[in-house]
Amino acid sequence: TGPARIAVIAGDGIGLEVVPAAIRCIDAVREVHGVELEWRELDWGSDYYRANGRMMPADGLDLLARHDAIFLGAVGDPSIPDTETLWGLLIPIRRRFEQYVNLRPARSLPGIPSVLRRDDPIDLMIVRENSEGEYSEIGGRYGRGLPSEAAMQETVFTRTGIARVARFAADLASTRSGRVTSATKSNGIIHTMPFWDEVVEQTLEGYPAVQLRSILVDALAAALVLRPWTFDVLVASNLLGDILSDLASAVTGSIGVAPSANLNPERKHPSMFEPVHGSAPDIAGKGIANPIGQIWSGAMMLEHLGHPRAAAHLVTAFEASLASGVMTGDLGGTATTEEFVVSVLTNIDALAAEHTTVE
Ligand code: NAD
Ligand code: IPM
Ligand code: MN
Repeated sequence: TGPARIAVIAGDGIGLEVVPAAIRCIDAVREVHGVELEWRELDWGSDYYRANGRMMPADGLDLLARHDAIFLGAVGDPSIPDTETLWGLLIPIRRRFEQYVNLRPARSLPGIPSVLRRDDPIDLMIVRENSEGEYSEIGGRYGRGLPSEAAMQETVFTRTGIARVARFAADLASTRSGRVTSATKSNGIIHTMPFWDEVVEQTLEGYPAVQLRSILVDALAAALVLRPWTFDVLVASNLLGDILSDLASAVTGSIGVAPSANLNPERKHPSMFEPVHGSAPDIAGKGIANPIGQIWSGAMMLEHLGHPRAAAHLVTAFEASLASGVMTGDLGGTATTEEFVVSVLTNIDALAAEHTTVE
């Protein structure tokens, strides 16, 4: 079968800094574990857009289809509307490759001062629906500039779409605490949410060992700040899951640490691994971005490709850096991206014996 082929799109802003940083760390664990990967770097993004009037080549998705995974940094440039950049690259990839699960872990990491008043360990998995819901393509903007100008969009939920993401959440919960929390808003005048609740509930009936609780998302947001350690697997619609995942990672310390996997669980198409955060134009080019979200996304990719030991080695290494007090500014530290990476590389070496003997 040969080495796994990885398409790399660093993209924009801090993506251009954290992606090479993460690749150095992945290459280091890869060597220890004899994992072969073939990186193919693609210069797609906002600079490509400025030169070519599009975010990727016309046959870009076909090219990606010939890879085993996609490793993405971030997309978004202050001088180009997000409707061009995100809708021209990120969203089409998620759609074309039926990456209907966006898996976003959030957990306490060593050495990070909690923004909360308690230190109970947080360990939750957000399972975000990633293909439909509030992110539908039905609707638009009408009568631009007129007093009657309007914008509208249909939220589209399908039985198939809800059931498959609910199944993923239930399967995941079965390997963990056995508890699923579903984010809802069925008390508002939102016709789609009672349907979401119904299908989630029906799906979970097939999992007698899994306990389901639906919580109104406004109260859930508050509970995630007040007692995040009480949650395990959270399943949410596209927009609600987007918001909750930034919230959950911020509660663990910074959105700079949060990883994500855009999964096509059937493995019919490549999955995509990218941090939860965006291109962070406010700190781009300064060399101070936290690379953990990108490195951890790389660990999720290694795991997905069948290399759990290399993945665990990588995670243990950046945790060891944090535990020794090396951290970037978003976590209250003084390390640059480069200093953090050097520390991770040192820890990969230091932990190599331990990680190769544990079969
Ligand atoms: P953002 O996630 O880029 O940044 C939000 C805040 O968090 C900023 O203050 C930023 O400095 C900080 N931050 C983010 N990542 C960090 C890191 N690794 N280390 C340290 N600090 C970090 O969100 P935004 O500012 O709302 O969006 C900027 C652009 O990114 C927009 O164009 C947006 O559409 C896009 N975006 C893209 C993706 C993606 O490509 N998947 C995700 C989110 C936002
Ligand atoms: C994310 C981002 C994207 C989303 C944007 C940039 C389209 O916020 O990956 O969380 O909303 O899915
Ligand atoms: Mn987001």
